[in-house]
Amino acid sequence: MLAGRSLIEPLNFSVEEMDDLFALAERIEEDGAYLRDSCRGKLLATLFFEPSTRTRLSFEAAMLRLGGSCLGFADPGSSSAAKGESLADTVRMAAAYADAIVMRNPKEGAALLASRYSPVPVINAGDGGHHHPTQTLTDLLTIKRLRGKPGAGLGDSIGGLTVGFCGDLRFGRTVHSLAKALARYDNIRLVFVSPPELQAPEYITRLLAREHIEYLETGGLEEAMPGLDVLYMTRVQRERFFNEEDYIRLKDTYVLNREKMKLAKKNLIILHPLPRVNEIAVEVDADSRAAYFKQAKYGMYVRMALLASVLGVVD
Ligand code: NCD
Repeated sequence: MLAGRSLIEPLNFSVEEMDDLFALAERIEEDGAYLRDSCRGKLLATLFFEPSTRTRLSFEAAMLRLGGSCLGFADPGSSSAAKGESLADTVRMAAAYADAIVMRNPKEGAALLASRYSPVPVINAGDGGHHHPTQTLTDLLTIKRLRGKPGAGLGDSIGGLTVGFCGDLRFGRTVHSLAKALARYDNIRLVFVSPPELQAPEYITRLLAREHIEYLETGGLEEAMPGLDVLYMTRVQRERFFNEEDYIRLKDTYVLNREKMKLAKKNLIILHPLPRVNEIAVEVDADSRAAYFKQAKYGMYVRMALLASVLGVVD
């Protein structure tokens, strides 16, 4: 039962609870009328202290499609945070008005802190370079839908796959959340492709080692490409760099283009949490293996499933 629960990082939900969410999301996708008015009269507060397009819009679309309503801000400059209000106070206010809170904040740990002050569920829509669990739900549902075995739970569905991550693995919160979530499944292999400065944090690689997950760290995308079933491309996270020179030096380390796609499996799926900057050439969009726009759509279905569950309108 997810009613009343917060989602701060991917391991907050069990493997079985995730499977229930994916099944619900698939049912919502199949049947547009299912749960249509289930959240009538409920309010979702969206508190975005950092820029967002997809995450905020997909949460709003999800809530509206469930018949509920949204309130909030997309620019902290227009909220009382600009007057010096603490996060704890902003969250207590939002919880007084709304039935659930979705929050994005540049500080690692902000969502956890918010959940400690909030009597209503808090959903972490990104806390600095730390976690982004609803992007992980999106990513896993996409992998399941495109590469999974019909009717199987996620574990059976993705066993045997090699998942590559490429780009900014140090600051990319979507990478941390997805790698952490994948570490719970058997028979999965991970390949991390990044320059040395942008390698995945040690807490992630240590966790993989502890869980006996086979992983490889490399600098070469071309060499890794032929072995991958899923390639998760990421943007270099400019806003988390300490200086602009480093960003400029590293930003175009990897550009996935038509030439590199020739090295890949015929049934590779390319994911990207978006926004894309330069790391995937536009010419790749026409390749049937490019799944990043579909992925954005699955994000809305899984967020509908999540909201309906934490708001307690489904079992
Ligand atoms: C990601 C994020 O905010 O971490 N975007 C998203 O939510 N889809 C990835 C990014 O900004 O690079």
